Amino acid sequence: MAAARGEFSSRFGFLMAASGSAVGLGNIWGFPTQAASNGGAAFLFTYLILAFALAYPALMAELIIGRHARANAVTALQAISPSKNGKLFGLVVGFVGITTVSFILSFYAIVSGWMIAFFIDPMARLVGADSVSAWLTNDAVLRNGFFVVVFMMLTVWIISAGVKDGIEKWASRLMPSLILILFLLIIYVLTLPGAMEGLKAYLLPDFSRVFDPDLLVSAMGQAFFSLSLGVGTMLIYGSYIPKHENLPVVGGLVAVLDIGIAVMAGMLILPAMYVALANGVPIFDDGGGLIAGPRLIVSVLPALFNSMGFVGIFVALAFFALMTIASLTSSISMLEVPVAYSVEHHGIGRKTSAIVLGALITIISLVIVFNFDSLFDLVVSYTTEISQPLLGLAFCLFGGWIWNRNEILEEIKQGSPDAESGLFWKVWPFYIKFICPVAILIVYFQ
Ligand code: PHE
Repeated sequence: MAAARGEFSSRFGFLMAASGSAVGLGNIWGFPTQAASNGGAAFLFTYLILAFALAYPALMAELIIGRHARANAVTALQAISPSKNGKLFGLVVGFVGITTVSFILSFYAIVSGWMIAFFIDPMARLVGADSVSAWLTNDAVLRNGFFVVVFMMLTVWIISAGVKDGIEKWASRLMPSLILILFLLIIYVLTLPGAMEGLKAYLLPDFSRVFDPDLLVSAMGQAFFSLSLGVGTMLIYGSYIPKHENLPVVGGLVAVLDIGIAVMAGMLILPAMYVALANGVPIFDDGGGLIAGPRLIVSVLPALFNSMGFVGIFVALAFFALMTIASLTSSISMLEVPVAYSVEHHGIGRKTSAIVLGALITIISLVIVFNFDSLFDLVVSYTTEISQPLLGLAFCLFGGWIWNRNEILEEIKQGSPDAESGLFWKVWPFYIKFICPVAILIVYFQ
């Protein structure tokens, strides 16, 4: 079985896949507005510290466990637990992770479907298909259901092709395109009237807000979701990293890419919002805060693009291409979690697993689409606010308390022989044992 497992063929491939998982809707609709509303550069600074002090150690726990066990989350967590109870705990955590990530994908696919619809819309307008354009941009059950299916088919198609020919190949194409589009959009938007106000709102530091406990808590939640932690995604990607790779370094690069792209997204989103404001589009909600989340993406920004005239069509095309890419490189990493389990644990073929599990998740998505008002927020908050932090905590317990310390060191040493005397090994074990679990508990009880 070991020989049949996939593996990333290069460091670049892994970096694109893992940062593709990390960079998603969260980076674009969550981070920038959160930063702007909470102290600008002062928030960025706090976020950076939190991400490196708390989220990075948790990311490393997943990568190390995955690469060591060379297996899906359920098998891996059982393999590193010496005791019977530990193995049982591993089984439970692995399963809850698989279930959670499947539900995350079920709501993610809905929003990602909107991104595809809004990506096709500018093309429809270019050819003058106004009724198609209206269908694409009006919120309706039929449209939502249709694009959930399209998006899930894309995800299943990439995952069916495997680690190297699916995940790595597509992430290596899509992520550089994402970065390029982001750069071009930033440059363009910064030339428009109002943009500098947005940049100021984003970056001017206001230190009075940053020690607010609520803020620290939500920044940490954001960091965990953004790095795809707790649900076995990074564990399974870690299991495809070759043994000669230096794990602390590649993990660090993933964190830098994720945070870097979130910060850059802010240089696009905030200026764009203030340009919209200058064009008469409302950007604040009833509470006086900046509009964030889906409403920002499907109403504020499209209103801005519409107010730009002909160029607006191309700006919209580029922006929704960016969003679709960000979604797809995240969704494939989500589907890989249950698929890897089904392939390795039940010996079912990859293609069959991807199709069957993808279909099941699509059905859940469609149930949410049909009962949007009652289910959508519920699924989002159960998975991301309750399940994900608890799973993050469980991973810290595995890395800090359950798994044997010498084995961990041996695993890290495979790709960095001097690891024992390095900074990472001086700090990480302590963090994962004490600091991370306590911090997560605090966040959880908030
Ligand atoms: N990190 C992704 C984002 O920011 C979301 C995600 C969560 C991906 C969990 C995989 C697993 O949008």
